Amino acid sequence: MIFGFDANKARKDFPVLSKDIIYFDNACMSLKPLQVIERINEYYKEYSACAGRSAHKLASRVENEVAKSREELRKIVNAKKQEEIIFTRNTTEGINLVANSIGLRKGDEVIISDKEHNSNLLPWLKLRKNGMIVKICPGNSDGTFNLENFEKLISKKTKIVSVVFTSNVDGVTNPIKGICKIAHDNGSLVLADGAQAVPSHEVDVGGLDVDFLAFSGHKMLGPTGTGVLYGKKKLLEKMDQFIIGGETVTNTNYDSYEMEELPMKFEAGLQDYAGIIGLGEACRYLKRVGLGSIKKQELKLNALISRELLKNEKIRILGPGDAGQRSGIFSFNIKGMNPHNVSKILENSRNILTRSGMHCVHSWFNSRKIGGSVRASMYFYNTEEEAEIFVGEVQKICKAF
Ligand code: ALA
Repeated sequence: MIFGFDANKARKDFPVLSKDIIYFDNACMSLKPLQVIERINEYYKEYSACAGRSAHKLASRVENEVAKSREELRKIVNAKKQEEIIFTRNTTEGINLVANSIGLRKGDEVIISDKEHNSNLLPWLKLRKNGMIVKICPGNSDGTFNLENFEKLISKKTKIVSVVFTSNVDGVTNPIKGICKIAHDNGSLVLADGAQAVPSHEVDVGGLDVDFLAFSGHKMLGPTGTGVLYGKKKLLEKMDQFIIGGETVTNTNYDSYEMEELPMKFEAGLQDYAGIIGLGEACRYLKRVGLGSIKKQELKLNALISRELLKNEKIRILGPGDAGQRSGIFSFNIKGMNPHNVSKILENSRNILTRSGMHCVHSWFNSRKIGGSVRASMYFYNTEEEAEIFVGEVQKICKAF
């Protein structure tokens, strides 16, 4: 199906949207189109065999389909080579892989921002037991990245800078290209957590010059439990393996083994072939819609919501007032109200599904003594009508409480 962008047409591809709901929890999980669901079913119905082991025809088909998916993923982030695309279970696994494989030693420093998801905080904090130092770069009060603070913090001991690309708290996109320039001039590597960025932005790893980019399938129309770690080939080749076992070696003896080449070196054990093939189909779908159209639709809805709700003095937004800087995320609190209660009222009144709480970024909320927020996160299949209903319901809550 190819369409000039029309959210109402796109919605027909998403079975969950036939229910009477307004799905505004896309930063947590995108819905899945029929095309992806059908590709997954096709694997299980027609060729549910292994790749990389047996030589029969079903196995060859799996191998071909996995290779085609890897190519789709390569294209979506504009990587140079297929071997630079490592399949993982999610962003978290990609970050753990890097943290544990780049040879960090006692005294080495890592810099992260002050607004990292637990997945980009804990893998680094855990390494402190080996004498590694974690430095936190303070952002600006409106949630944007502060390059000056970053320049002050970076040192000759900084081995890697690991930062969120687009924040799941407030939707702000960080200046990854500028961060890479400063880090590389200093001899440091950069890892970007692209979980929220890849589903809605044209990401060009070459243009950014980012060393690693971790992202998840489930936020970009793909199946749960799928993800990708992009890495520059020359770095991945030098890196130690993280999880090892079947398919990560070419030969073993009782006391030795020979490591496989990229990308298999990092893809241990039986893979989620159906998921990987489904993720490839999700990339094809995203390409047909166009990442430019996706971004535009998110901004249109966020601008509408922000314009109406920011007039209300009971509403406190997280992030900059300018919707253009917050992609598809409107994260807010109503003065005097618990965010979980607001989220529940939205669901009970008009079936508006949002996420409330600290969004797995406890460190940021705790440091600011904020108990959490209500987060409405929109995607390309959401409509202006839904945004208007959301605005009306939030206004009603503000009046009633
Ligand atoms: N799943 C996380 C969220 O909802 C990333 O923000």
